[in-house]
Amino acid sequence: MRRKLIAGNWKMNGLSRDLVEVERLRGAIGQPEADILICPPATLIARMVRIAEGAPFAIGGQDCHWAPAGAHTGDISARMLADAGATAVILGHSERRADHGETSELVARKVAAARQAGLLAIVCVGETEAERDAGRTLEVVGAQLRASLPPGVDPRGLAVAYEPVWAIGSGRTPTGAEIAAVHEGLRATLAASFGPAAEGMRILYGGSVKPGNAAEILALPGVDGALVGGASLRAEDFAAIIAAA
Ligand code: PGA
Repeated sequence: MRRKLIAGNWKMNGLSRDLVEVERLRGAIGQPEADILICPPATLIARMVRIAEGAPFAIGGQDCHWAPAGAHTGDISARMLADAGATAVILGHSERRADHGETSELVARKVAAARQAGLLAIVCVGETEAERDAGRTLEVVGAQLRASLPPGVDPRGLAVAYEPVWAIGSGRTPTGAEIAAVHEGLRATLAASFGPAAEGMRILYGGSVKPGNAAEILALPGVDGALVGGASLRAEDFAAIIAAA
């Protein structure tokens, strides 16, 4: 039985004053059934880690560089995230792939760096609307996933997030059957790389997960949690999604 993981991705949102949402979340969730992770912008990680002390949630980053240190102005390494108290990092999010031209090959190097630093790597894949309309979803996400996994990586330090690009921030989601089919396809891809260990790996769904649809999505076969953007910013909404897990 895989324990579900509910991860919040704050993206480029969050100032000091928003830390109160995390305090409120702490008060709202009791002892959740799922593992909980919040990935704020890097500027808030260390302070959020302090708020999370003794609370049933962990703090993660939204990206990292592939090198442990060096001349890379503006970048943050996995080792730095771990040093700030993060225990996980989102990698290969479609916004990084689109805004920064990140390829799956680059993502694989970042996954290796994250594992080297002891962080859980949450690897994101997802098709565009044109790719879905062309019937290429499984092919596209399978190829992204294979290319985003560094050789020899330990599957225990990995999770996957299936995030259809067209569902992110749009209020639209695939049908339950469509989500379940992609998760099944991704698990087959993981099984081809990792054998029976793939059964223990978590595959999250992300893209317009809200309090109103979370229970239905989280009950789908092969869905081991959610990666939540907009609805993770307010404690009340995120707590409702956590309660649905
Ligand atoms: P959303 O974002 O929940 O706002 O659609 C999800 C994500 O991009 O991780």
